[in-house]
Amino acid sequence: MTEILRGLGTDNMTQQAKRADARARVTVPEFRARKDRQEKLTMATAYDATFARMLDEGGVDSLLVGDSLGMVVQGQSSTLPVTLDEMIYHCRAVARGLARVPGGSRALIIGDMPFMSYQVDELSAMRNAGRFLAEGGAHAVKLEGGSPAMARTIARIVECGIPVIGHVGLTPQSIHAMGGFRVQGKSEEAAERVFQEAKAVEEAGAFAIVLEGIPEALGKRISEALAIPTIGIGAGVHCDGQVLVSYDLLGLTPDLKPKFVKRYADFFETGIAAARAYVDEVQRGVFPGPEHTFGAATSRPADAPKTQSNVVVVKPATETTSRRPEPLRAVSYGPTES
Ligand code: KIV
Repeated sequence: MTEILRGLGTDNMTQQAKRADARARVTVPEFRARKDRQEKLTMATAYDATFARMLDEGGVDSLLVGDSLGMVVQGQSSTLPVTLDEMIYHCRAVARGLARVPGGSRALIIGDMPFMSYQVDELSAMRNAGRFLAEGGAHAVKLEGGSPAMARTIARIVECGIPVIGHVGLTPQSIHAMGGFRVQGKSEEAAERVFQEAKAVEEAGAFAIVLEGIPEALGKRISEALAIPTIGIGAGVHCDGQVLVSYDLLGLTPDLKPKFVKRYADFFETGIAAARAYVDEVQRGVFPGPEHTFGAATSRPADAPKTQSNVVVVKPATETTSRRPEPLRAVSYGPTES
């Protein structure tokens, strides 16, 4: 930054410095510093190279290779069947995607430790956490829970030099213990339990904590009490940052409309419309046109549109939405209640 500031006028200097900061790599210390500066953090899930690159170029601060991939990528009804090897495979894909960001990527990669990869004993938890960094290219790991045993596990992993993000409130790996994807911490007693768990996670050395599916007031109380940043999902606006499943934020989960999700795009409908346009053009002999063909013949069907480029932008087929069959079952990795 100093080199950038040197020799520039003040206005220019501020602009340039801001731009340089905007592309600076997001590190674990930067996560903590953001809370001190009261600047919100952004996190989204990523499971492959293309999405990782897209989200990084969109300015998302950190990419969580979440075990939610079990539901949105693998089509499972919970996160429980996801294996450690699968998580590391997806982590590697995300890390490769970031390596392809022009000008360098900035997002912090967090590997989500899957069910039973850290609960059995501290040694296997440390070993498995290490695999995310050594084999998966992650910068940190996330694990669920804030019991005394889990706090000890977090402390041991942190002692290995592996940064840890905690996760309390609605913890999807405990779906059966919770009786489903339910908002947690609603009663005074339950709120106190989540609060104490969050404090235990901080004391164990986690550098941030995900708060999932809890009332806004509890999200605020925890965010004010902790020195480490809180990253909310269904935990209200007072958290120090927010995380969303990328498939939700991009509109790729048509059968799922949890209250805490906001859709910023309509990729699923756009995808249907694109597929229909492709099918239509192939059936009419319009695609491939001469511009897509090696040593093309000159004759084309009379009704062929004169395409200007290789890219056709189609609009979402919103009129088709109502004709799609009802989902067989609703799945969720978060609370569906209001
Ligand atoms: O697996 C995941 O995507 C998560 C987020 C919902 C926080 O844990």
